[in-house]
Amino acid sequence: MNVLPVNKFGALETPFYYYDVELLKNTVASVLAEAGKYDGFHVHYAVKANFNPRLLQIISAAGLGADCVSGGEVQAALGAGIAPSKIVFAGVGKTEKEIRFSLAAGIFCFNVESLPEAELINELAGECGRKAEIAIRVNPGVAAHTHANITTGLAENKFGINYELLPEVIAEVQKMENLSLIGLHFHIGSQILEMEDFVALCNRVNDIQDMLESDMGLQLPHLNVGGGLGIDYEKPLDNPIPDFAKYFATYANCLKRREGQQVHFELGRSIVGQCGTLVTRVTYVKHGTCKKFVIVDAGMNDLVRPALYQAYHEIDNLTSDATAEAYDVVGPICESSDVFAKDRMLSQTKRGDILAIRSAGAYGEAMAFGYNCRKLADAYLSSEI
Ligand code: LLP
Repeated sequence: MNVLPVNKFGALETPFYYYDVELLKNTVASVLAEAGKYDGFHVHYAVKANFNPRLLQIISAAGLGADCVSGGEVQAALGAGIAPSKIVFAGVGKTEKEIRFSLAAGIFCFNVESLPEAELINELAGECGRKAEIAIRVNPGVAAHTHANITTGLAENKFGINYELLPEVIAEVQKMENLSLIGLHFHIGSQILEMEDFVALCNRVNDIQDMLESDMGLQLPHLNVGGGLGIDYEKPLDNPIPDFAKYFATYANCLKRREGQQVHFELGRSIVGQCGTLVTRVTYVKHGTCKKFVIVDAGMNDLVRPALYQAYHEIDNLTSDATAEAYDVVGPICESSDVFAKDRMLSQTKRGDILAIRSAGAYGEAMAFGYNCRKLADAYLSSEI
């Protein structure tokens, strides 16, 4: 599993994304098996992590739902054959056009992030003579142990409605004729490996449920706890599939579910992260005064995570097994932050070698851009080459 067919890579123009379909299918099977151990657990794939249509089709065929954050993502999910009844739509800035489109498609639920948004959905649902099902996204004030740029559950973040304001907001929403409040939505951040963070979220959800019940006599049929389960960026080959068993057991044990209450998950990275590799070729090896630079043909525009979050990705030289040396692995973009790794030990590297930048399946291709007039990298599935 995750063995790269480097003999087939020589003919392909680099850089490109390569996806191991077998690993993706095994990962999806593991998510479904582990979530399936608990009644009423539903998994929606977070499309933002990777919207490559061929991957979406595999994910859809396996039966996962979708978590979307734009009209484009709703369209991509529908295009891949995901049933509207399994689609949830979050995001702080849903536009009128996106809301109309999603209402017409008949998606399962809008995760509403503010009162003005609730008002707009109410108005637009009224215009098309329907009732929109909504969950309120609650900012739970729970810190996740992850990079500051990808934590979302704190008062200082723009997401959701502060849990202290919830009763007032619910009271307002209940007055809106064309909305049906079916649940609460939470998401505390991404690349979370400490189950304690999810336990803290469960505790907060439990408190909120108790408060709504005692103060307002309210019980809701759905809870959506978001995504965020991390992957092993340091040892991707040893741990290609995240520990979904532990993750779902944490929620099953810690969440005080009301009778019949359904629990929804929005997992992105943990599903597609490890199946993707960015394959790049060495253009030059440059000897500086104090460093050696491996200059590759992929840049931060192809994989922005190292530049944006100082994220670590394993890098292997697929065409050399000579003694390792320390290199800075950098791209060709005119930005000092166009660096994939600093002082990284790599088998002695020369011009023309092929490098694999691992764990690039999530937020890699999906966040690529065309800076410096660069063409977006191609993507190949293992089943195609
Ligand atoms: N649900 C909501 C409401 C989210 O905001 C996110 C991710 C997810 C689910 C999926 O989270 P996951 O299971 O993938 O952790 N570009 C960053 C990550 C941004 C995550 C944004 N929200 C990165 O490359 O690390």
